[in-house]
Amino acid sequence: MGEALSDGRILLSLDHISKSYRGRGGYRVQALDDVSLDVAKGATTAIVGESGSGKSTLSRIALRIEHEDSGDVRFHGERLAYSRGRGVAGKVQAVFQDPYGSLNPRFTIRRSMLEPLHVIGVDGDEAERRIRDALSFVKLPQDSLDRYPDQFSGGQRQRICIARAIAPDPELIVLDEPTSALDVIVQAEIINLLLRLQQERGVAYLYISHDLATVRHIADAIAVMHSGRIVEQGDATTIIDDPQEAYTRQLLNSIPDIRL
Ligand SMILES: Nc1ncnc2c1ncn2[C@@H]1O[C@H](COP(=O)(O)OP(=O)(O)OP(=O)(O)O)[C@@H](O)[C@H]1O
Ligand SMILES: [Mg+2]
Repeated sequence: MGEALSDGRILLSLDHISKSYRGRGGYRVQALDDVSLDVAKGATTAIVGESGSGKSTLSRIALRIEHEDSGDVRFHGERLAYSRGRGVAGKVQAVFQDPYGSLNPRFTIRRSMLEPLHVIGVDGDEAERRIRDALSFVKLPQDSLDRYPDQFSGGQRQRICIARAIAPDPELIVLDEPTSALDVIVQAEIINLLLRLQQERGVAYLYISHDLATVRHIADAIAVMHSGRIVEQGDATTIIDDPQEAYTRQLLNSIPDIRL
């Protein structure tokens, strides 16, 4: 286990979260089984683990778009009720794996980017200023605003999704496999963009990935999930250089160059 965070450093805390789904044939799938995890202010906590281990379920619960069966989600120490993602009023944003699916193809980029600002009551000139600022941060031209998603590459679309996420000035961005659909060069560009964003604006990330190679570049802390449980968690270098659990070692060994 890593060093426990002092309360003042904790931004998001997931406390004893359990969640099951009714699977096919009526039996229950225990997607999360008593998972506890903290995200520190301005830092990155990564969740790694094989497909089906519960990473996305945990991220949806953190975003308050999915109900837990039991447990608490706290933001700045305050318990967050389930509220279709609106309870934290722009302070928590999300970027998902599929930049094609997460932008409505019938909406201009402007309309897609204005939506989360509208939710927090930012409209008019201030909203326009915010989306223009976010777009220049991700290094896309301002005339992108009047265009449609299919006029952009996958990497550019993911930049747009990041710009949309930063416009409300969040304290936390939940990133669920944000680079998995992209080629290696574009992956590196997105990771560098995320690092720059964190350095300049102090935003924290809950970063979900099964790709330990990118995790190594971005994470301060790592939680390793397997079958709905956290098998090991701690600071990133310790988990990568000195894993204690057989499952973590197995995961690391599946990527030969992880320790380079
Ligand atoms: N809406 C749902 N209904 C039923 N079962 C679900 C639902 N969502 C997730 N599950 C099940 O819960 C478990 C965890 O799924 P989850 O999507 O959280 O895994 P994951 O770690 O994100 O996997 P991946 O790496 O493939 O994205 C899996 O067994 C999955 O089939
Ligand atoms: Mg997933």
